[in-house]
Amino acid sequence: MERTFAIIKPNAFADGNSGKILSRIYEAGFKVVGLKKLYLSRVEAEGFYHVHSGKPFFAELTEFMASGPCIVMVLEAEDAIRKWRDLMGATNPAEAAEGTLRKEFGKSLGENATHGSDAPETAAFEIGYFFSGLELL
Ligand code: CDP
Ligand code: MG
Repeated sequence: MERTFAIIKPNAFADGNSGKILSRIYEAGFKVVGLKKLYLSRVEAEGFYHVHSGKPFFAELTEFMASGPCIVMVLEAEDAIRKWRDLMGATNPAEAAEGTLRKEFGKSLGENATHGSDAPETAAFEIGYFFSGLELL
């Protein structure tokens, strides 16, 4: 079993799509090991996305992530990291495959509805950034 880290981003939360996205997560066979609603500060969003700190989209991205509440989650499944990225679809909703979450709920490259870890090391950092061990029992 593997764990990955996921976010229902502020656009999807504000649009009232959290329930639909959670249904899709359960239907896909993930176990939801951790889940909470947060309203990130700009500094917290910057710390989470520190790997992108040099990129031209960093300011816009962190402003968006701090623009409203989101839901952070730890998902468990076999091959969870790849499986969750497959369910999300491509980063740009315009390029995401039919049936993926970003295709259905994403508005733009920035407001693309969901986040998912891209590797075991990033999953470990991202899970630890938001959850304590006790919250994941
Ligand atoms: O989220 P994902 O791992 O698919 O993509 P990323 O390359 O790690 O980028 C992180 C996030 O930054 C994306 O999900 C987009 O919301 C945003 N982004 C953007 O606004 N403009 C770009 N050119 C690339 C990414
Ligand atoms: Mg990424």
